[in-house]
Amino acid sequence: KRVAILISGGGSNMLRLVESMTGDHPARPVLVASNDPQAAGLARAAGLGVPTAAVSHRDFPRDRAGFEAALLEPLLAARPDIICLAGFMRILTAGFVRRFEGRMLNIHPSLLPKYPGLDTHARAIAAGDAQAGATVHLVTPELDSGPILGQARVPILPGDTPETLAARVLAQEHRLYPEVLRRFAAGENGVLEL
Ligand code: GRF
Repeated sequence: KRVAILISGGGSNMLRLVESMTGDHPARPVLVASNDPQAAGLARAAGLGVPTAAVSHRDFPRDRAGFEAALLEPLLAARPDIICLAGFMRILTAGFVRRFEGRMLNIHPSLLPKYPGLDTHARAIAAGDAQAGATVHLVTPELDSGPILGQARVPILPGDTPETLAARVLAQEHRLYPEVLRRFAAGENGVLEL
């Protein structure tokens, strides 16, 4: 299976995904693309020998469709079977999502369906939750709402700040996403609980 990964920043999840696709893994990375040409993850991907592309959304002010059309060029050229959004911070239109629906995954730093959107850790702490975590789900046109493929849970500890909780969750993201991708690429069903 050919996997394209979309990032917006450091790409720590992308790195773990790329590093996991070796040996008898059913998938291989064919592209890492970003909406930010300065994304540090692009150099990290190139360092691992993965082709990269960047399309700046800032070149398409108030023109989401134009940005997506430009992004589709390198994306379709890579002939991906699976797309992984990994720290990708742009909202995709329904039209874009529908082109890949059923084979586009995303990782979100909360135990969905709780806390879709931003600032998930501050919201979980403010709510007094005992647990937080990350979710890998299939992408549908509604934000952070598709079928869940896997979740990882962590405790929220006394004195946690959004930063300390984010670090604890991110470590679990790095375990969860590669395992969910491997199972998804192998055609396995079920929800992975870590
Ligand atoms: C992190 O907040 C992570 O929880 C979320 O995206 C952000 C950046 O991740 N998935 P990455 O290091 O770019 O993968």
